[in-house]
Amino acid sequence: MSIESRYVDLHPTSRRLAERARSTFPDGVTHDLRHNAPFPLYVDRAVGSRKTDVDGNALIDYVMGHGALLLGHNHPSIVSAVAEQLPRGTHLGASHELEIAWGELVRQLVPSAERVRFTSSGTEATMMAVRLARNYTERERIIRLREHFHGWNDSVSGQPGSEGTVPVSPGLPEGVLDASVVIPQNDVDALERTVEEYGDSLAAMILEPTGAHWGEEPISIDYVKAAREITARRGIVLIFDEVIAGFRVSPGGAQQAYGIMPDMSTLAKIVAGGLPGGCVAGRADILDQISIGMAVSRNVAGADRISHPGTFNANPLSAAAGAACLREIADGRPQTTAAATAETLARGLNQILRSESIEGCVYGYSSMLHIALGTNDVPADGYSWHGERPSRPIVQTEGDLAHKFHLAMLNEGVHLMGSGMMVSSVHDEADVAHTLDGFRNALTSLAAEGAFRG
Ligand SMILES: Cc1ncc(COP(=O)(O)O)c(C=O)c1O
Repeated sequence: MSIESRYVDLHPTSRRLAERARSTFPDGVTHDLRHNAPFPLYVDRAVGSRKTDVDGNALIDYVMGHGALLLGHNHPSIVSAVAEQLPRGTHLGASHELEIAWGELVRQLVPSAERVRFTSSGTEATMMAVRLARNYTERERIIRLREHFHGWNDSVSGQPGSEGTVPVSPGLPEGVLDASVVIPQNDVDALERTVEEYGDSLAAMILEPTGAHWGEEPISIDYVKAAREITARRGIVLIFDEVIAGFRVSPGGAQQAYGIMPDMSTLAKIVAGGLPGGCVAGRADILDQISIGMAVSRNVAGADRISHPGTFNANPLSAAAGAACLREIADGRPQTTAAATAETLARGLNQILRSESIEGCVYGYSSMLHIALGTNDVPADGYSWHGERPSRPIVQTEGDLAHKFHLAMLNEGVHLMGSGMMVSSVHDEADVAHTLDGFRNALTSLAAEGAFRG
């Protein structure tokens, strides 16, 4: 039976729900990542490292709330913090004590966080960070790195094409595209040239500190260091987008792991313990542009501060979940456990690729893994390029192969995040064993369909 036929056979209820959703949502889905031909998977419930889909199939979950669930699903401390808050109110329409505790934890953990401002998502956090940087420097242009993802707000959505920066989606004004310069990561010369060429118009540089797409394209720490030095020299605000890396790579995120201080950081996902939420954190003189009493410069519209409303900023449920989560991860133990499990997984998966004589490589950093089928470029230590750049760009699993691989792993009861894995602190030995068996079987199914020929 083909991989797709097996998927169809295993998921009749998902298929029915997908048909029902189609007339309500574009393509029947509510997030770009959930597109999945022939129809998306519908999940019913989750606990720990596992989920159960609407057809009763058990899944080991490596999506883990798109990276939000470092502690796994429904961690007891988070569940009880939210349960305690729920009857006390889901929106208090006023300041509340929980938000202070939550913000203090961010300040305590993230080295560069002198001030914090909560948002409802990572996209809102990067939008705010860019605006703060533009007003602070009274300049407009942002340096971004090719393929680095910062959410879907206009300012960070263009990518370079043969004729300059082009939208990754239609609907972006030309002026917004002109306000970005997008250069390749790991190329210090390109950064120096860009700074020379655009110097006085550059407000900020924003980057994913573990490399494009949470390290799918690993970044060299020397490059990040150089970016820090060059931007500091030219008065350009350096923003680490730690929406994924924050609290995962270490309690203080990549900046703590690398010992490099950005001017601002954007955080989301883990910061809110699995509920919606994010924040901008960073230098007081930059964030205080939000303050009514302490605006540091005038923006072009003539107002004297950056306004920041937002109905669900620091909502009490997210504050309860976020504070509980940050307390749990503050000592670094969950991060170490998750990273150790990820390394075991990567080594086991690579071993299977070698024993099956299939070209491919599983690599990653901390508790984030990427599976590249059809490439031979393996890190020297067999697992991580951390801090180094690969000798050449890694060939990613794409197109039909990526799609079939994802389906084949679902058929084996393993839910990947695309072709990657977000490993939590509660994935255990049984999960690892099941994942390795599932991977071997998925490769066999793919081989039977001629996926690795020629
Ligand atoms: C590095 C990075 N920045 C920003 C975002 C956007 O965050 P959100 O999905 O909460 O809007 C994401 C989302 O995956 C991300 O990975």
